[in-house]
Amino acid sequence: MSRLKEKVAIITGGASGIGASVARLFAAEGAVVVAADINEDALSTVSQEENIHGVKLDVTSDENWQQVIRDVEKEHGKIDILINNAGVTSEKTISEVDYKDWELLSRINGFGTMLGMKHTGPAMEKNGSGSIVNLSSVTSMIGMGLNSYSASKGSVRAISKAAAAQFGRNGVRVNAVFPGVIETPMSKGLESSASALERINRMTPLGRLGKPEEVANVLLFLASDEASYVTGAEIAIDGGYSAM
Ligand SMILES: NC(=O)c1ccc[n+]([C@@H]2O[C@H](COP(=O)([O-])OP(=O)(O)OC[C@H]3O[C@@H](n4cnc5c(N)ncnc54)[C@H](O)[C@@H]3O)[C@@H](O)[C@H]2O)c1
Repeated sequence: MSRLKEKVAIITGGASGIGASVARLFAAEGAVVVAADINEDALSTVSQEENIHGVKLDVTSDENWQQVIRDVEKEHGKIDILINNAGVTSEKTISEVDYKDWELLSRINGFGTMLGMKHTGPAMEKNGSGSIVNLSSVTSMIGMGLNSYSASKGSVRAISKAAAAQFGRNGVRVNAVFPGVIETPMSKGLESSASALERINRMTPLGRLGKPEEVANVLLFLASDEASYVTGAEIAIDGGYSAM
C-alpha cells in the first residue's frame, strides 16, 4: 500500500489514541512519519515501529516547533503533511469552569494547533504543496456538555478556515475533522460509565462509539493527493451524532 509514498508527515499527539493509529496507518501507506508528543514514555513505544520516528514536542512552545521543523527538514528534506492532533479535555460544567481550565484548554487545543500551522505552513508553501488536517470535535458543532473543551475546539474550526483561505494560494490545503466519541484513553471516563455510554449510543445513528482507525482512514484520504481539490472542508466522523 502506498497512498502516501515519499511523503513526510508530522503527527502531533502521535504517541496515543487517534494519533498513534494515524502514525501506524500513514507509515503502512509509505510515509515517513514523525510522531511528535509531549509524553516521552508513550513515544518510546510507538517509535519502535518501522518508519515512525518519535520526537518530543510541546505543541504550545514556539521554540519546540522551530527545533522540530529544523530537524525534520534536515533529516527528511521537506514536510508534506501535518496532522494537528494533540489535545486535552476537561469535563467541567459551566458553573465549575474557571480561567485556569479555560486557558489550559485554549492554549493546548487552540494555540497549539495555530502554532503547528504557523511553523509548518511556510515550509509547505516553499514546496508549493502540503496538507494540514486539524482535529476539532463534534462538541464544537453541537452541545454535548463540554465547555472549555468545546470552546477550544470551536477555535480550531475557525482557524482551519482562516488558514485554508491563506495557504491555498500557495498549494497548501487545510481541512478540519470533527470526531464524535472515539475509543481512546481520552474517552475512558465515558466508556466506563454504563449510563453515559448508553446515552451516547442512543443518540448516535450508528449506535456505537468510533474506533481510532475509523478516524485515521478519513485523515489518510485528506492527507493524500486523492483529496487534491479539498480545502477548507469540515468532515464529521461521529456515526451521525451531529445529524440528530
Ligand atoms: N477520543 C475522542 O472521543 C475525541 C473526540 C473528538 C476529538 N478528539 C480529539 O482528537 C485528538 C486526539 O485525541 P485522543 O482521543 O487520541 O486522545 P489521547 O489522550 O489518547 O491522545 C492525545 C495525545 O496528545 C498528547 N498531548 C497532550 N498535550 C500535548 C502537548 N502540549 N504537546 C504535545 N502533545 C500533547 C498526549 O500526550 C497524547 O499522546 C485530540 O485533539 C482530541 O481532542 C478526540
